[in-house]
Amino acid sequence: MKYPYIAKSFAKHALSGFKTPYMVMFETTLMCNMFCEYCIFGEAGKFNDLQTRAVRERIFRRIDEFCDMGIFAISFSGGEPLLNPNTTDYIAYASDKGMWTSMPSNGLLIRKYADGVARLDMLEVSIDSLNPERFAKRRGLNGLPKILENLDFVLQKRKPFTTQINAAVNLENLEDLPALAEFCRERDLVLHPEAVHNVMRAGELLPDAELHGDEINRVEKSLRQLRAAFPRNIRFYAHYYPFYRNGGFNAEFPCRHPSKLVSMKPDGSIHLPCAFMTLHQSQAPLKEIFASEEARKIIAQEETMWDFCKGCKIGCAYEVSAYANSPTLALKSALNFLRVWS
Ligand SMILES: C[S@@+](CC[C@H](N)C(=O)[O-])C[C@H]1O[C@@H](n2cnc3c(N)ncnc32)[C@H](O)[C@@H]1O
Ligand code: SF4
Ligand code: SF4
Repeated sequence: MKYPYIAKSFAKHALSGFKTPYMVMFETTLMCNMFCEYCIFGEAGKFNDLQTRAVRERIFRRIDEFCDMGIFAISFSGGEPLLNPNTTDYIAYASDKGMWTSMPSNGLLIRKYADGVARLDMLEVSIDSLNPERFAKRRGLNGLPKILENLDFVLQKRKPFTTQINAAVNLENLEDLPALAEFCRERDLVLHPEAVHNVMRAGELLPDAELHGDEINRVEKSLRQLRAAFPRNIRFYAHYYPFYRNGGFNAEFPCRHPSKLVSMKPDGSIHLPCAFMTLHQSQAPLKEIFASEEARKIIAQEETMWDFCKGCKIGCAYEVSAYANSPTLALKSALNFLRVWS
């Protein structure tokens, strides 16, 4: 880990009264080569940003700005981040500067970019079943054998517990999780199960895919049992389940994405309040954006949120909010994180 960078960033945050963002979600592209039934990016041809992606220099300058502001971590997300051929160069640049880097991927291209993804502090590969038919149904592509082959190749270049398997969970694949956990135990991987939830984008929603009533209890109970059986390998936030049952973000547990998680789009623009809804976007320098009246006004509203936030349970927004809303949860997460790295 990059301790000098972390120490310097911590000092900057302390100086700002812990008011500045601590993480970036960079959607390197909104395009995807899979068709997952629960994901808004899974609709063929829906997004095309080939013409509007930032030229490389603009993204490198953005990463400089993130470091100047003392932002700790950057996630290279998407769509499928490896469909942007520059992604691994951005990872190397952010990593060389000291940022903590992570990337979720569907795994189809990780072998092609094996040396590049080897630089990540955390590589996340999304596999929600080891049953090829169920995988194909859920992820819209009969790609499991190829993805497992790619994963085995990439794992030769990675340290234990620095690769995570992301599993979107509902009742359909709940029974598949013990086999996935065993797979992770054999390879020193982390398994991060996350209950399927609806993800809104610019007001648009897929048909309801959420867990209701007793379904959420069954998923939570199974995950707790799984964690007891595989304590070194399973990572999830137990508090996410009461949060889910409670309907997601609310005034007692507001979303901190606007102030704590910077959303950067493929063209290098910064969007507020979040990656899923834009009230303000800008290509101005980062410090200028966060000092602007528009941004301050939006951030001041995060306590009460907006109508479009109703029912939102998005995992990445939940994680940053958990750290910011509750010192106990932050401490628990830190301990969880350290166990992963031990
Ligand atoms: C949006 S994808 C982007 C990165 C990459 N394409 C991938 O599949 O890993 C990031 C993660 O969100 C998960 N995901 C997508 N839609 C979801 C949903 N409705 N509920 C829970 N997780 C979801 C995916 O399985 C994946 O692990
Ligand atoms: S979960 Fe990832 S791989 Fe699946 S459609 Fe969404 S962005 Fe693509
Ligand atoms: S709750 Fe947060 S992530 Fe969800 S729509 Fe509102 S601002 Fe965006």
